[in-house]
Amino acid sequence: MGYSIRQEVLNIEKYVAGKPISEVKRELGLEEVIKLASNENPLGCSPKVKEVLKNALEETALYPDSSNYELKNAIAKDLGVKADQVFCGAGSDSLIKVLCSALLNAGEESIMAEVTFPRYEANTKLMGAKAVKVPLKDNGLDIEAMVDAITEKTKIIWFCNPNNPTGNMFTGKEFEKVLSRIPDSVIIVMDEAYIEYVTDSDFPNSLELLKNHPNMIVLRTFSKAYGLAALRCGYGIAHEDLVQYLNRVINPFDVNLYAQKAAIAALEDKDFLKLVHETNKEQKEYLYKEFDKLGLNYVKTNANFIMVGLNRDDKPIFDELLRKGIIIRPGFLLGMPGWLRITIGTEKQNKKLIEALKDIL
Ligand SMILES: Cc1ncc(COP(=O)(O)O)c(C=O)c1O
Repeated sequence: MGYSIRQEVLNIEKYVAGKPISEVKRELGLEEVIKLASNENPLGCSPKVKEVLKNALEETALYPDSSNYELKNAIAKDLGVKADQVFCGAGSDSLIKVLCSALLNAGEESIMAEVTFPRYEANTKLMGAKAVKVPLKDNGLDIEAMVDAITEKTKIIWFCNPNNPTGNMFTGKEFEKVLSRIPDSVIIVMDEAYIEYVTDSDFPNSLELLKNHPNMIVLRTFSKAYGLAALRCGYGIAHEDLVQYLNRVINPFDVNLYAQKAAIAALEDKDFLKLVHETNKEQKEYLYKEFDKLGLNYVKTNANFIMVGLNRDDKPIFDELLRKGIIIRPGFLLGMPGWLRITIGTEKQNKKLIEALKDIL
């Protein structure tokens, strides 16, 4: 070929997403397929969101508000921060890329767990920076070791809390112990995509920590508990001085018009969010009990998915579940072979999963 591709692109791999339901139906000739693979919300989204979306169709020919004025204000009000501390993007995926583009010079380093959300690594490498991966401890983030890994080349440290794919979390106390050892020159990213599911009251209060740490960024999303994954809307909160630089990098119309309107409506429906939280908590306990009966090992979760240990190759189990119309995420794709990451579904979906596992195992 006559053209060349940047070496940084050659160094990364394409992201393998959870299989879509339509693909499994088509390939396996199945009529009923459930997806417990991408930590989506099995309860869907708030009915208020659906109402807003119907009306928004009329505005399809218009560009969305590039400043996300109303959405930022709604988020700021909800969280008790200033609107100019908020930035929005097409999913936190988009914002992870923005952070890397705005912050990482070639040759710098970003620190992450060995097994965590893979987009930190890909976007770090895309900038020609080095992804420093720190092994997990007890299947969770080893935040002490992550901070020990800081060098003068470190620019970003990524804390995914609760961690995807392991689902467990570190506490506020544990975090405060390491926080003072992180220099101001390092940007601390708290990726809290699953915060709405957390049941442990010792979860760090990162919005409080932001007040004294202008080098901290909190990332959140409407894709999980709010059930808006298809619309692509994520947001971050940080010191306004840092946010104004990030805003230079975010694509002008990254958050589409439907997503902006839907996210505002979603924030207003606290009853739906409560239902989501409670259902997840209840179904998590059901799955723990059933996994115990099956003699399966699992990591206690504070998110809407559970990492289940099989003590055997996960690929054949993944394939068997697919044939039974259940899509989950095999551990071999996530850096944890021998494990399955299973999104907590509705009662009906979870029962179907357990029946299938009983059959297979
Ligand atoms: C930890 C974490 N961060 C970020 C994301 C990206 O979410 P979205 O781009 O849908 O906001 C995900 C999605 O799975 C995730 O698990």
